[in-house]
Amino acid sequence: MTHNSYDFSGRTVLVTGGGSGIGLAIATAFLDNGANVAISGRTESKLVEAVQGQPAGRTLTVAGDIGDPSDAEALVAAVVERFGRLDVVVNNAAAHTGGDFTDTVDEWEQIRTTNIDGFVHLARFALPELERVGGNLVAVSSVSALRGDWGQSLYNASKAAVLNFIQSLALDYGRRGVRLNAVAPAFTITPITQGVADDAEQLAKFTNRVALGRPGQPEDIAPAVLFLASDDAAYITGATLAVDGGTSASTGQPHIEQG
Ligand SMILES: NC(=O)c1ccc[n+]([C@@H]2O[C@H](COP(=O)([O-])OP(=O)(O)OC[C@H]3O[C@@H](n4cnc5c(N)ncnc54)[C@H](O)[C@@H]3O)[C@@H](O)[C@H]2O)c1
Repeated sequence: MTHNSYDFSGRTVLVTGGGSGIGLAIATAFLDNGANVAISGRTESKLVEAVQGQPAGRTLTVAGDIGDPSDAEALVAAVVERFGRLDVVVNNAAAHTGGDFTDTVDEWEQIRTTNIDGFVHLARFALPELERVGGNLVAVSSVSALRGDWGQSLYNASKAAVLNFIQSLALDYGRRGVRLNAVAPAFTITPITQGVADDAEQLAKFTNRVALGRPGQPEDIAPAVLFLASDDAAYITGATLAVDGGTSASTGQPHIEQG
C-alpha cells in the first residue's frame, strides 16, 4: 500500500528499529512521501535488505544498539552528516518480554536499556537537531503504556515511562518549536507477535477484543505516524493517538456475542 498524502521532500526522518515490522512500514511510507530516511537497528545486513529497491540517494542505514549512549550519539551524527539535518525522529525500537514477573525480572536489564534508556539517549542527542529545524518526534508507544496487561508487567512499565517522558518533553520543548507525540497500537502482526498470529486460537482471543474485528498490520500504523509528523499536526503536541482498531475503547469487560 502506498500513501502519497504528504510532501516530506527535503526533510530527513530517522526511524529506530526500522528494519522490520512497524518501523519498516513507517520508513517505507516516509520514503513513498519523498523524505530522506535513515533506519537504525542492531544488524546491518537486515537494514540493508530492508531498504533494497529504495532510492539509494534518500536512504541511510546505521547499525548500533540504541541502549548504548555512544551508539545513539553516533546514530544522530551519521544522519546529520549524510543529510545535513534531522526533521523527524520516530522512536520505534523496543524489546518485548512476557511471562511471570518473578521469572522475567532478569530481562528487566534488556527492557530498561532498550526501551527507556534507549529513548532517553536518543532524545538527548536528537532534540538539539530537531530544535534547529523546528522538527518533531513521534514515538511508537502502545496501548500497553496506558493500562496493565496480563503477563508483561516489565514491558508495560517501560512503555508507560516513555509515554510520560514524551508528555513532559512536549511541555519543555513546546515554546522551543519542537513537537513530541505518540501513537499507541494494540496487537499488530509483526515479528514480535508472529508466534501468536500463527496460533489460530490465540489470534482469535486478541481479535475478539478489537472493535474493528481484525488484528492491526504495520501499514495501519504508519499513516498515523506520518500525520503526526506532518505540518497538518502543527498544533498537536504531547498527544497519544490510539491506532488500535478500537481496542482501547473497551472497558476491558469480555466480548460476549449477543442474540
Ligand atoms: N506488534 C505489536 O503488537 C505492537 C503493539 C504495540 C506497540 N508495538 C511497538 O511497536 C514497535 C515496533 O515493534 P514491532 O512489533 O514492529 O516488532 P519488531 O521486532 O519488528 O520491531 C522492533 C525493532 O526494534 C529493534 N531493536 C530491538 N532492540 C534494539 C536495540 N537494542 N537497538 C536497536 N534496535 C533494536 C529490532 O531489531 C526491531 O527491528 C515497538 O516499540 C513495540 O513496542 C508493537
